[in-house]
Amino acid sequence: MASTPSARSSGTFRIGGEIEINRLGFGAMRITGKGVWGPPHDRAEAIRVLRRLPEIGVNFIDTADSYGPDVSEELIREALHPYGALTIATKAGLTRPGPDHWLPNGSPEYLIAQTRKSLRKLGVDRIDLWQLHRIDSRVPRDEQFGAVRQLLDDGLIAQAGLSEVSVDDIQAASRVFKVATVQNRYNLGDRASEDVLNYCEANGIGFIPWYPLAAGSLARSGSKLDGIAGKLGVTPGQVALAWALKRSPVMLPIPGTCKLAHLEENVAAAGITLSDEDFIALSQ
Ligand SMILES: NC(=O)c1ccc[n+]([C@@H]2O[C@H](COP(=O)([O-])OP(=O)(O)OC[C@H]3O[C@@H](n4cnc5c(N)ncnc54)[C@H](OP(=O)(O)O)[C@@H]3O)[C@@H](O)[C@H]2O)c1
Repeated sequence: MASTPSARSSGTFRIGGEIEINRLGFGAMRITGKGVWGPPHDRAEAIRVLRRLPEIGVNFIDTADSYGPDVSEELIREALHPYGALTIATKAGLTRPGPDHWLPNGSPEYLIAQTRKSLRKLGVDRIDLWQLHRIDSRVPRDEQFGAVRQLLDDGLIAQAGLSEVSVDDIQAASRVFKVATVQNRYNLGDRASEDVLNYCEANGIGFIPWYPLAAGSLARSGSKLDGIAGKLGVTPGQVALAWALKRSPVMLPIPGTCKLAHLEENVAAAGITLSDEDFIALSQ
């Protein structure tokens, strides 16, 4: 394991075949308040976490208009603008009636208006990667995909992705625009999206597993990760992230935290190489 943690050890992936990132990224949902609502409990620490990212090789940051709402995008801008070599990905398609409440809104007008807001919040002319946060079941999905196509055609976004989708959704969207990434819930203990991951791998689509640490529960001791973690002298959470990185070359984990120490620990996972034997044992 490298002594100075660096996300560079996770290898690279080209989003949409064009934007090169280090595979281990950062999820910026947890730099908001309780229930992903309002400002973070420790604002100064949240800023420190964000400013540490480029120093330790994390050059891919995932956020959304709905985190806070707006708070996450605003903090990213405050801490890191101008972004230089950082790739900032955001999303729209979920509204926030209150803490811990999320409601889809996939109307094309809403998606386009929210993207324009994200451009202003992030302080950019074009969003590197914009993701449809949810397909809204009350709106024909092709209308939502059409809005994404328009965002690409108008140059407001460089690449586009989807979130919480099936293989059928990806195929339908691919008839309207080039799907660069898919962001589904996935971790060692939650493999419901294996078919989607396999489809992404076969088609060069980045797979962004959200919940890679199962909100921290995979980082705690007391699971089957303990044995391998103990043997390697690392933490269970690091084993979970190393497993995800080894699972597929298109895997782009975005563990989230509002604590500097947890960030350093998570990024150090990029330098852990699991043996095939340990990988198979964990996968079972
Ligand atoms: N597309 C979607 O629908 C969707 C949904 C949810 C999330 N996301 C994205 O995915 C990212 C990750 O998802 P997530 O935040 O739900 O799950 P996660 O990364 O699995 O877990 C984050 C939680 O784990 C804790 N944690 C992180 N590192 C730790 C460590 N080393 N030791 C102990 N605890 C640790 C954090 O608490 P501390 O802050 O205390 O460290 C935080 O509460 C989000 O930030 C967001 O960008 C997308």
